[in-house]
Amino acid sequence: MKEADQSREGLLSSYDKAERTPMRKSLENAYRSDSDSDIDATDFLDRDPLNDQSQPAVEAYGPSRELANLRRVFARRSRCFFAILTILMIFWTVIAFGGFFLYRKAPKDGLSPPWYPTPPGGTSLKWQDSYKKAQVLVEKMTLAEKVNITTGTGWQMGLAVGNTGPAIHVGFPGLALQDGPLGLRFADNATAFPAGITVGATWNKELMYLRGKAHGLEARLKGINVLLGPCVGPLGRMPAGGRNWEGFGADPVLQGIAGALTIKGIQEEGIIATIKHFVGNEQEHFRQSWEWGLPNAISSNMDDRTLHEMYGWPFQDAVKAGVASVMCSYQMLNNSYSCGNSKLLNGILKDELGFQGFVQSDWLAQRSGVASALSGLDMSMPGDGLMWGRGNSLWGPELSKAVLNGSLPVSRLNDMVTRVVAAWYQLGQDDKSKFNGEGPNFSSWTSDRIGVINPGSPDDHDEKVVNQFINVQGSGADAHSIIARQVATEGIVLLKNEGILPLSKDGWPLSENREINMRVGIFGEDSGAGRGPNACVDRGCNQGTLGSGWGSGAVEFPYLTPPGEALVSAFNKDRVYVTDFPTNDPPLKQTPVILKQQDVCIVFVNADSGEGYMAYDGIRGDRNDLYAQKGGEGLIVKVASGCGDGEGSTIVVIHSVGPVVVDGWIDLPGVKAVVMANLPGQESGSAIADILLGNVNPSGKLPYTIGKSLEDYGPGAKILYYPNAAVPQQNFSEGLYIDYRHFDKEGIQPTFEFGFGLSYTTFEYSNLVVTEVLPKSALPAARTPGIDPPTYDDKIPDVSEALLPEGFRKLKKFVYPYITKTSDIKKGSYPYPVGYEIKQAPSEAGGDEGGNPDLWNTYATVSMDIKNTGSITGKEVVQLYLGFDRVQGAAKEVDFPRSVLRQFEKVELESGERQTVHFNLTRRDLSYWDVVQQNWVMPTEGSITIKVGASSRDFKLTGWY
Ligand code: BGC
Repeated sequence: MKEADQSREGLLSSYDKAERTPMRKSLENAYRSDSDSDIDATDFLDRDPLNDQSQPAVEAYGPSRELANLRRVFARRSRCFFAILTILMIFWTVIAFGGFFLYRKAPKDGLSPPWYPTPPGGTSLKWQDSYKKAQVLVEKMTLAEKVNITTGTGWQMGLAVGNTGPAIHVGFPGLALQDGPLGLRFADNATAFPAGITVGATWNKELMYLRGKAHGLEARLKGINVLLGPCVGPLGRMPAGGRNWEGFGADPVLQGIAGALTIKGIQEEGIIATIKHFVGNEQEHFRQSWEWGLPNAISSNMDDRTLHEMYGWPFQDAVKAGVASVMCSYQMLNNSYSCGNSKLLNGILKDELGFQGFVQSDWLAQRSGVASALSGLDMSMPGDGLMWGRGNSLWGPELSKAVLNGSLPVSRLNDMVTRVVAAWYQLGQDDKSKFNGEGPNFSSWTSDRIGVINPGSPDDHDEKVVNQFINVQGSGADAHSIIARQVATEGIVLLKNEGILPLSKDGWPLSENREINMRVGIFGEDSGAGRGPNACVDRGCNQGTLGSGWGSGAVEFPYLTPPGEALVSAFNKDRVYVTDFPTNDPPLKQTPVILKQQDVCIVFVNADSGEGYMAYDGIRGDRNDLYAQKGGEGLIVKVASGCGDGEGSTIVVIHSVGPVVVDGWIDLPGVKAVVMANLPGQESGSAIADILLGNVNPSGKLPYTIGKSLEDYGPGAKILYYPNAAVPQQNFSEGLYIDYRHFDKEGIQPTFEFGFGLSYTTFEYSNLVVTEVLPKSALPAARTPGIDPPTYDDKIPDVSEALLPEGFRKLKKFVYPYITKTSDIKKGSYPYPVGYEIKQAPSEAGGDEGGNPDLWNTYATVSMDIKNTGSITGKEVVQLYLGFDRVQGAAKEVDFPRSVLRQFEKVELESGERQTVHFNLTRRDLSYWDVVQQNWVMPTEGSITIKVGASSRDFKLTGWY
């Protein structure tokens, strides 16, 4: 019997259970120091049953900590402590429940309109075969089998971070779902690719695709079915947002193109990609119920146009690319939980965008049972219910009951299951030569070869080989490190260069005939190995060089080449002395000579953030500011003013999760060059050495704006750090105006604008030609009906289909589909949501995967010439923006940002070479979302301005359509 099957059968062994405690894999290896900050990093793990399974571990931020203090206080009987504690309790009460006074501000029943019933999957021709095959299987399944497919088995029940149960009798396996966007989380011998933000900074479509493909292949070779990436939400509304780095940059088009190409790569390898987090998960504070002490998560409130043109845009691209899974986000959208928001899932995703795959919840983002199924959720992850690791699922047996007592229409359950099975067929996972059905060959929970499959259950003592240590990194010309290195290198953005870069590996140019060799000093903790790249769980601390942010989007590094080390070996030792001080506190006072004697100083600084279930150094997911961290700014100032006794040249390298304010030091006379190296993954050192020494000409462009202060990004860019209501409210009132669109609107000069990046060569733009392919028309062609979805006999099945089989031994906390007795089924009247009975009209913006097919037709093409006018080969990113300043008629009344990115191409040119670049502009590109017409509308009077250039502010050519 297969491992996954065994889990469902609930095998027990006689092994003494008392000694075994489930733990997250990296916890075992975690380096624990005595410093407070390290304690933070591990103590704040919210979902680790290791800590205390009887408490919602998220309370690490809230009451549990206070209670622990209380006990200690009483023990000491210290009045003083008691007083402090009382103050703390009052403070906590005010923070947590102060919202009571603001309560009236929060809408009670949500602001998101109802949209029922869920449009069934199987309406797109592109999925026809898969749905046909799925129907054959689903027709044969019992109720218990169907429920098994929709519900995760529970946290740490199975080897992956998410596991579903099989439908054994029809031969459908349990599925293994694993993070994440930059590599395979918790896996050994796998590649630590650069993070999404670095991929965005390459603006290189081929690399976006190749990284996805390598990632997909690694997932397949490790036995994974569903990858929990790519991530295009957060979009980057708030530059300090903790998880912005998992996505590709603060613009919907950049995110959309990068996301779609990543999906193409992943899915070509047969892996189901998951686009996440749908939608509005822009900050970590209050993202999740209880994690921040409040019973409810924050609500992201946005208007319809903003949803379509900004936050939903990249998801539309993903659906168009055929993504087979969407993960709904933790927080609420317009005061209705995303995973139970019928307008969002039924209306927008499944009707308008024509999504054919399945919607899975983020981990514990499901907050209701039947209601979320009615709203369009298809799979509950990890299956646990409202609290981690308890086994009290909102579905599982409850879903069986809901079907049997008539609350949930059988048709909805059939659709949920069919969507999952169709996705499996669509990706070819029935091909036994690629998927052996044995599940993951590694464990997320232990690094040992032998272990249990379900460490989340105190009953599982059935030890097996859980880690086969299969190396999936590729080798020779197929080594994935090659792609990882290319992305890391092309994702480096040269921000400032006063003639110092590139450095020669031989030091001073030989022509200068200097008598002494060149001396290079490398400074900063970020240049060094620190305690190793995997020192903290889920990369939850900032130490050594920064290769990725923290959280579920991080991976175990197989290695990480530290920049200092790579630079030391990159220079010619006979001509260049390199000294490396991998600390932010070099002994400059005691040994001033280490600074004075240098000709060139390279300072490494960084800024880190991550997912909200961990905190480090006072950073609880979201950054607290936009400055370099750990005293980085002070280090730059000291080094730049003292390097070579004030005569030396300083180069600053930043590794960061997002924009870093540089105005405090960038104009210091000693600072001759600044490089934004983003989050490079395992190839960090090789990448930066290649750029600084000119082996590779820099070609990265900023995937966000670097402003002079957080204020400059506008009021909407601020994280809500303290609750402003019982259900914290974030109003996205700035609408379309985030990042560069805001700077443009308000006429604020950024330090470096979105799309900016220097090269060691120069380019000339010429010859813009705009060609009309199709005449303008306001609305897309009328929606045509899709093909017929599968239909089933939707009669309520017999109770026996979900009864616990006789003699079945259950594992404690494991989520099964079974009910124990017929009397569990009590008929009653289910309180269907308001508006449930209103049949919604299909959206005219819909019609197929990705929406109305006409939205994807090319209406205009643009071509232009680009020439390398410098002396060395280089790559340029040609960026195409639209302006709507010349539109006339009704569209003139519409508020448009000054420029919006719509396309880009990266081209490589030898010195003197010229190439023609072509762009297609689709109907959607040339339209805005009209909230009254509920459709994409193309302005037909006047003209749309087409601006082509080297950044969002450096337009070289202009044309009109
Ligand atoms: C994250 C998701 C992730 C999931 C599984 C959640 O906390 O928000 O992005 O895929 O955990 O690890």
